[in-house]
Amino acid sequence: MTAQRVLITGHRGYVGSVMAPVMAAAGHDVVGLDVDFYRDCDLAPVPDIRTMDRDIRDVSAHDLEGFDAVVHLAALSNDPIGNLNPDWTDSINREGTRRLAGSAREAGVGRFLFASSCIMYGLSEGGEVDEHSPLNPQTDYARSKVAAEQSLLELAAPDFSPVLLRNGTIYGFSPRMRFDTVLNSLVGSALTTGRITVLGDGRPWRPVVYIGDVARAFLAALEAPREMVHAQAFNVGAAALNKQVRELAAAVQHAVPGSDLEVLAQPDADQRTYRTNFGKWAATFPEFQFERTPEQGAVELAGILTEHDLTYAGFTSDRYTRLKRLRALLDSGALDDRLRWQVAEMAQ
Ligand SMILES: NC(=O)c1ccc[n+]([C@@H]2O[C@H](COP(=O)([O-])OP(=O)(O)OC[C@H]3O[C@@H](n4cnc5c(N)ncnc54)[C@H](O)[C@@H]3O)[C@@H](O)[C@H]2O)c1
Repeated sequence: MTAQRVLITGHRGYVGSVMAPVMAAAGHDVVGLDVDFYRDCDLAPVPDIRTMDRDIRDVSAHDLEGFDAVVHLAALSNDPIGNLNPDWTDSINREGTRRLAGSAREAGVGRFLFASSCIMYGLSEGGEVDEHSPLNPQTDYARSKVAAEQSLLELAAPDFSPVLLRNGTIYGFSPRMRFDTVLNSLVGSALTTGRITVLGDGRPWRPVVYIGDVARAFLAALEAPREMVHAQAFNVGAAALNKQVRELAAAVQHAVPGSDLEVLAQPDADQRTYRTNFGKWAATFPEFQFERTPEQGAVELAGILTEHDLTYAGFTSDRYTRLKRLRALLDSGALDDRLRWQVAEMAQ
């Protein structure tokens, strides 16, 4: 395997701060690019990676010269932020991705891995979705991912290979922890309140995937021969990673002995449900093993969070919930109404 020069955007986020060291340890020359919205939100030291302090909305082809690949993680990363201001999600997730990819192609970067999401399948009434299923995005965040994928496919060329990696909900420990995703939130709640609360009836299906496995899956897509991945979408995961919310809750109850599980079955709770077919990933990467089940991952996460003395105040603070943090930065004036750093000493 030839070492590649790789730019990872969003390398200081939840996924990026785990993925960047994995790619570096595999022998690649990794540079990060991040506007660092979640600085001061470390639960553990964030790995030291050479960094371009840059907003993806400002990147030019000149910045990307000499890179073999771009791994594009930077985004406003969930539905609630989209609801806060859809224009921000559109300008960063859709337009920012289009600009970054256009610059990458112009600079001669050969491969562009995009962190997409299974959320774009929307409601499937309990059926199974694969990469050919119609996309049915329900939120501004999901729509931004669909539009970004579309613009990447339009840029595909013999010397520019976009690869669309559709992840389920990612869980597991990261130095830049998030508790606004399903399994992380259930573990954090069980540890700091002794309770696991499921708002709906727990029957909806969700694909979940361990953060370390996502990092290795992106590495596999980076290193794969071009013809295996060129302009392809992949659901990243395995059949056994489709879980009902109540199964996830039970796994967490097992991981945090003594915690209570309550299923509220509120009629207005989020009952979106979808099961994801991961056959294409398995057929393309037959050697790849997903190393953690959610049951194992919940035990591991509970153990690491206990070592880090996670408190209730920490769990519910703005540090680990993306929407709360952005709101705090906006309220304090640190970010302006275009999500640009304002406070002189905080701007890079
Ligand atoms: N976490 C999940 O469960 C999940 C699931 C599916 C897909 N994804 C996708 O994976 C990617 C990474 O997710 P995450 O959980 O690490 O999110 P995150 O919010 O923790 O990290 C995103 C990073 O991008 C940076 N960023 C945001 N806007 C930027 C900009 N304009 N310029 C430069 N940097 C910018 C932020 O500072 C942050 O460090 C995202 O694209 C997300 O949509 C995540």
